[in-house]
Amino acid sequence: MVTMANFLRVVKTLLALPRKRVNGAASLLTGWWMVRLLWRFRVLVAATLVVLVAYSTWGWVGLVLLAVVPPLASLTWRAVHPQSHGWLMNRLLARHRLRHVYRARWDAVMVACNLHRPLPGGDYGTPQLVTVSLAPVGDVLHVRLLDGQAPADFIRQADELAHAFGVPDVRIAPSGPGRVELVLVERDVLAEPVTLTDVPPVTDLRRVRFAIGEDGRWRTRDYANIAAEVGGGVPGSGKTAGETSMACGLIQNAAVQYVVIDGKGGEDWSWISGRAAAYCAEDEDLEAVLAIVEQVHGLMRHRLKTQKGERGEANFWNLPLDAHHPVVFVVVDEVQTFTDTKGMDNDTKQLAFQITARLSALVKKGRSAGIITRLLTQKPTSDALPTAIRDNASVRTAWRVITDDAAEAILGPVVRRSDITPVDIPEEMRGVAVVANAAGRLERVRFPYVDEHTAERIATRVADLRRELTEFGAPGVKDDSEGGSSEGASGEASEVRA
Ligand SMILES: Nc1ncnc2c1ncn2[C@@H]1O[C@H](COP(=O)(O)OP(=O)(O)OP(=O)(O)O)[C@@H](O)[C@H]1O
Ligand SMILES: [Mg+2]
Repeated sequence: MVTMANFLRVVKTLLALPRKRVNGAASLLTGWWMVRLLWRFRVLVAATLVVLVAYSTWGWVGLVLLAVVPPLASLTWRAVHPQSHGWLMNRLLARHRLRHVYRARWDAVMVACNLHRPLPGGDYGTPQLVTVSLAPVGDVLHVRLLDGQAPADFIRQADELAHAFGVPDVRIAPSGPGRVELVLVERDVLAEPVTLTDVPPVTDLRRVRFAIGEDGRWRTRDYANIAAEVGGGVPGSGKTAGETSMACGLIQNAAVQYVVIDGKGGEDWSWISGRAAAYCAEDEDLEAVLAIVEQVHGLMRHRLKTQKGERGEANFWNLPLDAHHPVVFVVVDEVQTFTDTKGMDNDTKQLAFQITARLSALVKKGRSAGIITRLLTQKPTSDALPTAIRDNASVRTAWRVITDDAAEAILGPVVRRSDITPVDIPEEMRGVAVVANAAGRLERVRFPYVDEHTAERIATRVADLRRELTEFGAPGVKDDSEGGSSEGASGEASEVRA
């Protein structure tokens, strides 16, 4: 096998030799010119041979079979297994584009865009176009840089490259040392909503799909070792819907429990009530909200104190995930209802301070207890979202906002230095947001949309996975609210029943 492969490689190298190496009389006498000519038109030669063989063997029937069988086989394949069919078709098309569209023009474009480098002999070198792949957004050219070049050289020439390739935009992304990807953007993948009629269950919390990137591919997040997430955006920008679509996948996992506090006080989250370990849509009764927050806080303390002794590890994420030790997602929608004390009377203010203090503790210490706090707000300023909370939230999502200050309040100072900002997001593009990717760079994504009826159907389907937090060691919620002695409740947390 190996010798055969080597032999073929030698033949291929010989055939690909530049013409000037074997020319003139030598070429004429050895018949080399003919071999080269046949090689050059190898596809045509092969096709002609197949047609001739079919005709000579089966006559006209052979030709008809040749015209009918391949398309029929392709259609059947596509019907039976569309993924593998699509994969092969994409590869063939990408290869065709590489050879006949991009490679043919590559050197000229590199020179025109000033991305070539002079070589000692007076010649010049160009970056190598290694391969082409097809993405929903357009073609992606994978390029190996010349020594001394960096992706920044391409970023500077992005406009020139877009004009040279005849596309509205070219995006440049480093893809490894010495490599860069040019994404020839032919359409804005984020322009159209992505509506899901069902959501696959999340099986791996280290790879949770949450939105679609500008290349049309899903983005995932690693929720292990994360304590908190903050999301902000103007009313109607898609915060609740984004959170809903993610929750629909997570609640199908038995090792996930949800706690939802809806500060809007409406029905946005009522779909999850049958599956949520705790659900509260109170925007005025802050005692009820405090009771739930205290309960989660108690669970956190219980886990932090007993986890090592009982399960052998101090960090929740080093232990196997199972339904008896679930990750707890705490969603607080419109969190400013509870944290922004302007206009509150004194008693309510005290409750608000207690809620904020507990949320702040969850954000700071919840990571190693497997508690992930997710705060959504229309008002991402420091009076609505205390900096102690915001700065400890490692995942941030900014849907449409109006001012640079609001964008910075959610995403941090990085947004001032980036071309990508949530201030640009058009009003009609609800569900589009700016997030930081794994490399820390900002990017635009679109959250999928799951309407509340679909969400409710999913929640009902998996309602038997719901557990009370008290089953895992959280203190019970007291009904006779005595004015919220929060110190007492959390202090007793570690002793309550497991
Ligand atoms: N990803 C999306 N794709 C398509 N449409 C969306 C998407 N997200 C939201 N929408 C549309 O926008 C509407 C408002 O979204 P949503 O309720 O999530 O906004 P919000 O930011 O939570 O607003 P508020 O702050 O008022 O609660 C939805 O009812 C839906 O019609
Ligand atoms: Mg909302």
